Amino acid sequence: MDSTYADARRVMERCDILSRYSEEPDRLTRRFATPALREAQDAVAGWMRDAGMDAVHRDNVGNLSGRYEARAAGARTLLLGSHLDTVRDAGKYDGPLGVLVALALVERLRARRERLPFAIDVVAFADEESLRYHTCYLGSASVAGAFNARDLALVDDDGVAMAAAIRAFGGDPAAIATDARRSDELLGYCEVHIEQGPVLERLGRPVGVVSAIMGQSRVTIDFVGQAGHAGTVPMDARHDALCAASEFVLAVERVGRATEGLVATVGQVAVQPGASNVIPGAARLSLDVRHGDDERRAEACRLLRRQAIDLGRERGVAVHWQAAQESPTTSCDAALTQTLTTAIASRGYDVTSLPSGAGHDAVALSDLTPAAMLFVRCKDGVSHNPAESVSTDDVAVAIAVMDDFLTLLTRS
Ligand code: GLV
Ligand code: MN
Ligand code: MN
Repeated sequence: MDSTYADARRVMERCDILSRYSEEPDRLTRRFATPALREAQDAVAGWMRDAGMDAVHRDNVGNLSGRYEARAAGARTLLLGSHLDTVRDAGKYDGPLGVLVALALVERLRARRERLPFAIDVVAFADEESLRYHTCYLGSASVAGAFNARDLALVDDDGVAMAAAIRAFGGDPAAIATDARRSDELLGYCEVHIEQGPVLERLGRPVGVVSAIMGQSRVTIDFVGQAGHAGTVPMDARHDALCAASEFVLAVERVGRATEGLVATVGQVAVQPGASNVIPGAARLSLDVRHGDDERRAEACRLLRRQAIDLGRERGVAVHWQAAQESPTTSCDAALTQTLTTAIASRGYDVTSLPSGAGHDAVALSDLTPAAMLFVRCKDGVSHNPAESVSTDDVAVAIAVMDDFLTLLTRS
């Protein structure tokens, strides 16, 4: 068997193994700073040690990294990696693929007894999906020196504060800022990730480069009406929070459909008190709005906020709009992306450059160091879904391209 294909097979097997570390027995859910994340990290740390990495380390926010030293001391470092946390009921590849391809690259270098003129840190970020605290890029933002200490007071659905979760995971919340990397010691960051959309599959191409990552706004919206008896309160005397929230969900869909390039999603609804014979007194919604143009995204958010308030007013329901997070549209670094492009073309593949509608750790890191991304074709464009699928052949192409990318970087 060709050695690159064998390396891809091992990456796929490891993705399978990691998919067993879950908070839920029948589906993959691995939130920030949970025992399931710890188990996945322990497996990856073991593989890093087996690969002969020079140091394996967990930082205070909970990112795991393995270092492969350069040929000579004092050289800069290239960061390679992705995240190990997942969404709820996730697929196996969103995040782990990038970590495991990075590890495979180091294993190949070791097998060739090759040291590069730069060091490599393989980083497995602790929180990209924001499932637990609704603030994404916690891991990469702390590496970039942008961790917001105010977030330590946020609580998860079980009432556990972020500071306590970090302590339980082995970190010191007060020391997170000391883990920030310095840009002058870095060469850049490159992340391999499944595309999570259908473009490469439609074009029949195994990999592509990312031009930019769409900006996103996340908002928590509380509709507060009045709980009451489902059998006694007349229909014209109700202040049903869920009815107001439901009208808003459809307004979000309408605005998303009517605005070119906009995607807008309500992914969570929590109803209080949540009983079949009680009129809903409160409904909390999440809102996720994305556009490649930050001003168009901000405009859509303003419009939706006005609509929420108007819909609430018509029903005597108060609306509280709380911005949870914002991240701007981020262009990938031109020079690193060109090097990836050269690596793809020299393997004989046509090069596709595409924007990412999904968010990635590269967004937070691009404030620190040049960042680029290689996308790998996925089946039917499905992601954030257990049906997520990539082929071993395409992973082998990604490994070969990334190997050439490292070689090209040694010459630049
Ligand atoms: C991360 O996967 C996101 O874009 O929500
Ligand atoms: Mn994801
Ligand atoms: Mn991801």
